Amino acid sequence: MPKTKEKTAYFCSECGYESSKWMGQCPACHSWNTFQEIKIGPQEGRGAGRKSILAGQNKPVPITQVTSRQEERFSTGSGELDRVLGGGIVQGSLVLVGGDPGIGKSTILLQMMRHLAGQGKKVLYVSGEESMQQVRMRADRIGEFSDNMRLFCETGLEAVEAAIEKEKPYVAVIDSIQTISDDEVSGGTGSVSQIRSATASFMRLAKSTGVAVFLVGHVTKEGSVAGPKMLEHMVDTVLYFEGDPHTSYRILRAVKNRFGSTNEIGVFEMRQDGLSEVPNPSEYLLDGRPVGESGSVTGCILEGTRPMLIEIQALVCRTAFGFPRRTAVGMDLNRLNLLLAVLEKRVGMKFSACDAYINITGGMRSSEPALDAAVAAALISSYQDIAISEKAVCFGEIGLSGEIRGVSMANARVQEARRLGFAQCILPYSNLSGIEKKDGIRLSGMRSIRELADFFERNPS
Ligand code: TYD
Ligand code: MG
Repeated sequence: MPKTKEKTAYFCSECGYESSKWMGQCPACHSWNTFQEIKIGPQEGRGAGRKSILAGQNKPVPITQVTSRQEERFSTGSGELDRVLGGGIVQGSLVLVGGDPGIGKSTILLQMMRHLAGQGKKVLYVSGEESMQQVRMRADRIGEFSDNMRLFCETGLEAVEAAIEKEKPYVAVIDSIQTISDDEVSGGTGSVSQIRSATASFMRLAKSTGVAVFLVGHVTKEGSVAGPKMLEHMVDTVLYFEGDPHTSYRILRAVKNRFGSTNEIGVFEMRQDGLSEVPNPSEYLLDGRPVGESGSVTGCILEGTRPMLIEIQALVCRTAFGFPRRTAVGMDLNRLNLLLAVLEKRVGMKFSACDAYINITGGMRSSEPALDAAVAAALISSYQDIAISEKAVCFGEIGLSGEIRGVSMANARVQEARRLGFAQCILPYSNLSGIEKKDGIRLSGMRSIRELADFFERNPS
């Protein structure tokens, strides 16, 4: 082998930022002391992998002469997962599934493989974290598996690649990418260089063999897939599994998708026998709402393109100290402070002498401006101690002059409320004209926060 000059580069182990020299603080993610020196061999430099993937196509051609091909997709057996993937699994695609430990990444992928194996498609599950027995025990909780599901416990990249090439499965799952290492690459297991190299290899493998490869990636406490933010650039699709570990409720979100929209989410519930789909998340989220109590309002947020009804609770009480306390669970505290200031100035409610707590139930979080009106309504309701009808839904964005501004997809939100049997919808006045079906639901358009406060005073439940 000809001797080539050894090159090194520095990578941030948090976000994958590349630099030619060492730095104390990463300019991209601002974390300290995260740069690692990595040898980049001649094959790992710029454009590695690209050559082999695009070989034979390296000539500019007019776009109209390129034949477009409808990707062949196959179902995962879960409507929610299919939707997040953009309609099913695409052959030869590389999908990264990220999420906190214990959130259910291995479980959802096992369930997908069980479905595919049951359909007579060969699938390969590579586990670098658990022994065969552990995987079998988990699989037993989910159900019966067919022999088309092959299990392989291995951490060496070469052996895994060889197994995929030999078995030629429809889908290969690598659980997790952080446990795969290659002896020829410097750095310990889970280091930036190992993960980069393994991901690049799986990309090449997926494109050359047409096997759809799912990589499981662990998430750091900051919430990105460990180290490798750069993994997100290398793969076709990035899915994140989110959810409050204390509730059984899980949301699967597409952050990047070369084969579909990133607006979709899937909602699941963790049960004794694995994850089950939640086709009606609003019903689930509104379960157990208090009736006739002040401070509870139903709001509507959009998750992707999907309207979801959630309960917002406020508790306002006279402050015992000179400095009022404000706490927000599930929404931005600054937004709460802003709404309190607008209510004080435009409606004349003395919130500066009150503690205020906001809670979005069900472990949901949202930063959508359409939540403003429901939060304001909950605050007004608790401040005045008047209950708001449990049959009412409220949404709208509130501006600093106290105006209630229109929000996107108002019609979809109203239809969701109608579908679930709500009798009244309080919405921005400017959205009224865009509502299509109105039977069975009373619409009250609001122009300002003052009108909103008056409305609740006139219409206590
Ligand atoms: P797992 O898929 O192992 O998470 P990850 O791969 O993301 O780390 O999920 C593990 C959790 O899910 C664990 O706390 C147990 C729970 N669980 C159930 O509640 N029911 C089940 O049927 C299974 C398989 C797991
Ligand atoms: Mg796991």
